[in-house]
Amino acid sequence: MTRPAPSALLPWLSSLRCPHCAEPVELAERTLRCPQRHSFDLARAGYLPLLAGTSPTSGDDDDMARARDSFLATGAYAPLREAIVQIAPPGIRRILDIGCGTGYYLAGLLEQREDAHGLGVDTSVRALRFAARAHERAAAASWDVFAPFPLADGSTDLVLDVFAPRNPEEFARVLAPGGHLLVVRPAPDHLEQLRSAVPAMVGVDPRKEERLHQVLDPLFTTVSTTAVRYAPALDATSARDLVAMTPSARHVDEQHLHALLTDTAEVTVSVVMSLHRRR
Ligand SMILES: C[S@@+](CC[C@H](N)C(=O)[O-])C[C@H]1O[C@@H](n2cnc3c(N)ncnc32)[C@H](O)[C@@H]1O
Repeated sequence: MTRPAPSALLPWLSSLRCPHCAEPVELAERTLRCPQRHSFDLARAGYLPLLAGTSPTSGDDDDMARARDSFLATGAYAPLREAIVQIAPPGIRRILDIGCGTGYYLAGLLEQREDAHGLGVDTSVRALRFAARAHERAAAASWDVFAPFPLADGSTDLVLDVFAPRNPEEFARVLAPGGHLLVVRPAPDHLEQLRSAVPAMVGVDPRKEERLHQVLDPLFTTVSTTAVRYAPALDATSARDLVAMTPSARHVDEQHLHALLTDTAEVTVSVVMSLHRRR
């Protein structure tokens, strides 16, 4: 017997569009089809593959996704998840999490918003396997944030973007009038102890805020900006996972990392969260 499609996908069906021809789609058992006969089989893990034959421009590899899952399970970023829950506006029903990774923040938000349903989007297959089971009201799909989204205009109330790439024009298009975008990004002192111990770790662009406002301001009004800063004590395994879940991991020699991180104690977590309303 074929397994039914995840129920979390059903609220999104009327909004999903074929990534080839932008026509509406229908779900029959575990296959999504458009009138032009383009079809997409749900992955066994339950996410919808909507990359439509194109190679993603970027995305985490399996090791990074696994390290992210292990690190987030320690609870060291739970204060970030709580802050997102506080900042997200009331009354949101449809949440699109871009570059959702393992779905950790989307699941936290859905936990507190019982009327809401979510869709996590990523290009990493390993991350999507986690995201597809992150919460019973969270669906997952693969698409590239830098390509047109296979989603109708105005079909979401909140776009969540946590440490992930951005496509402001598509965010604005898929948001309903008055809908919100919540962006979380590192502040310049984020993980400063790790950055000084591991020189290969990518630094934070000092003009990041300016650049972000340049691209968002024509499309969005900023509602609030919140800094979240604290210093969790991490053991060596968590600190290693924290490095391993970043693109820097590809440039860090494992032995060097092991030697450097045995004594790590406190690491500064410092991020900026901003809420923007679609103009
Ligand atoms: C730094 S991680 C953040 C993951 C998650 N939001 C979190 O904070 O736990 C960035 C995520 O964006 C995804 N990503 C990178 N490039 C992408 C793209 N072009 N389209 C969609 N997702 C992408 C990566 O695979 C990764 O899961």
